[in-house]
Amino acid sequence: MCGIVGYIGHREAYPILIKGLKRLEYRGYDSAGVALIGEDRQLNVYKAKGKVSDLEAFVSQKDVSGNVGIAHTRWATHGEPCAANAHPHYSSSQRLALIHNGIIENYAVLKEKLQAKGYTFRSSTDTEVLVQLIEYIQTVDNIDLLTAVQLALREVIGAYAIAVMDRDNPDEIVAARKSSPLVVGIGQDEFFLASDATPIVEYTDKVVYLEDEEIAVIRRGAPLKVVNLNNVECPHEIKTVSMNLGQLEKGGYPHFMLKEIFEQPDCIYDCMRGRINVEGTNVVLSAVIDYKERLLAANRFIIVACGTSWHAALIGKHLIESFCRIPVVVEYASEFRYQDPVIGSNDVVIAISQSGETADTLAAVELAKSRGAFIYGICNAIGSSIPRATHTGSYIHVGPEIGVASTKAFTGQVTVLTMLALTLAREKRTIDDAFYLSVVQELEQIPEKMKEVLKQNDRIAELSKIFTYAHNFIYLGRGYSYPVALEGALKLKEISYIHAEGYPAAEMKHGPIALVDAEMPVVVIATQNGLYEKVLSNIQEIKARKGRVIALVNKGDTVISRLADTCIELPETLECLEPLIATVPLQLMAYHIAVCKGMDVDQPRNLAKSVTVE
Ligand code: M6R
Repeated sequence: MCGIVGYIGHREAYPILIKGLKRLEYRGYDSAGVALIGEDRQLNVYKAKGKVSDLEAFVSQKDVSGNVGIAHTRWATHGEPCAANAHPHYSSSQRLALIHNGIIENYAVLKEKLQAKGYTFRSSTDTEVLVQLIEYIQTVDNIDLLTAVQLALREVIGAYAIAVMDRDNPDEIVAARKSSPLVVGIGQDEFFLASDATPIVEYTDKVVYLEDEEIAVIRRGAPLKVVNLNNVECPHEIKTVSMNLGQLEKGGYPHFMLKEIFEQPDCIYDCMRGRINVEGTNVVLSAVIDYKERLLAANRFIIVACGTSWHAALIGKHLIESFCRIPVVVEYASEFRYQDPVIGSNDVVIAISQSGETADTLAAVELAKSRGAFIYGICNAIGSSIPRATHTGSYIHVGPEIGVASTKAFTGQVTVLTMLALTLAREKRTIDDAFYLSVVQELEQIPEKMKEVLKQNDRIAELSKIFTYAHNFIYLGRGYSYPVALEGALKLKEISYIHAEGYPAAEMKHGPIALVDAEMPVVVIATQNGLYEKVLSNIQEIKARKGRVIALVNKGDTVISRLADTCIELPETLECLEPLIATVPLQLMAYHIAVCKGMDVDQPRNLAKSVTVE
């Protein structure tokens, strides 16, 4: 969703801001803009619909001088994507410029109030209301920018990360956050602002993550000041971020998504590093050990997540229930937060989120925490809001995920969930030593087995060409493979815009089979596990209705290969680890179909990487 970048210091701001916006492109957006206070002390605002490159083209003949500025990529919520609705927004007198990520829920009331005082509006956004309100307060009360921002934000209901500049005070940017992420980078006589650390790490590794209702004042020649809405100073910890810049580049791949699919074997190694002992006989997730009494005393676990992370949660449920015999409920975070859930101090809530910023998951965490539940986070983005809001947790350590379609984060989440289930089961003594050892040893083999699947990339690219015609796809799986079917369908629809649905294979007869005809590709995860014979029958039912079956089978399967139209072979593994292998060809297939259709794979339409508004 919206991306924020800011700079104040001794360098030219414009190149830093544009590069920062490009680093944030992955979040998803539809327009972009920049505001700079130039050498002539004018506050220049430039905006364009489309990509950051469209903005660059638009400003090519304009004055982009100055060493203070703010910039923004907008993902439309209020008002269509167009230059007028893009940020930064000027105040009426054009003295202030403001960028915003979030939603001002009471903007209509505030707007009416300002209109009654003679204010007019150039855009249909909620954000413009905020900048006008700040200017109104500043002018009427004749106060400084910080105080005006504090007073304005006290009137606001909603979520925000904002940065404001004042033409009459060009040595300062005021930035604030509530429920939307904002990071301050501290350099040598310079400051950076951004929605996450990716635009900052090139210049400094020292950052401060703002907390809710904190306001940062970054001022030339002064140390960082952080206060709250009542102007009380807030102690802030300067953290060191380590991010390899190579992780933010495509590294020779045509798209981030393909790079991230291919990174998975290394990511799984990184995820397991230090958690499985060198002999490969023991798994320790330190957070589980540190809080084992609390976790083992739980009546049940509730896993909250959205999208792909929710699919990982379904696999987590299966793993925890079968290894640990603890009941697990999986909830969409967006539903959980509004259903007045029955939850208390004997419950453990596991929140899964790649970005660590998903608004609904964060709200679900806050709700569960307020009712006394113990919260365990499984996240990727270090220092993001969800890990900071939880009692403990485990990072998946797969590195920044830039492609909007989540790939390596999914397999990282499933790996952590497997290690969590193993660690707890061992403590609870609910699995025997032989099974425990077999899972640990096989988990260690997963990266090599993923590599075997990745070797089939060219073949999967070829067969994907056949299916670009399709308007619909069905994905089927059972047991551990059912969430894989859901994930395969989600990958396809989000990047190729082909309608796709995942079902538990046996559910097909209860409705979806009506859709099957010679035009319908049906992807079936048909590996040789306990449900193999059942899935085989499901394939026969599809073939009887002339459906085109693409089956994921184990190497050497001769039965299904005779029935299916196309087979993709997978190395054998334990049933509980199959999702880690079977997801990879489905990611590749979705990728290649989208590429064949000429889609923008890394930034699909309407989607945001980090869904920071509900
Ligand atoms: O950052 P999160 O894991 O909390 O994000 C949740 C979903 O928004 C995310 O998984 C989304 O569904 C992806 N686009 C899937 O590829």
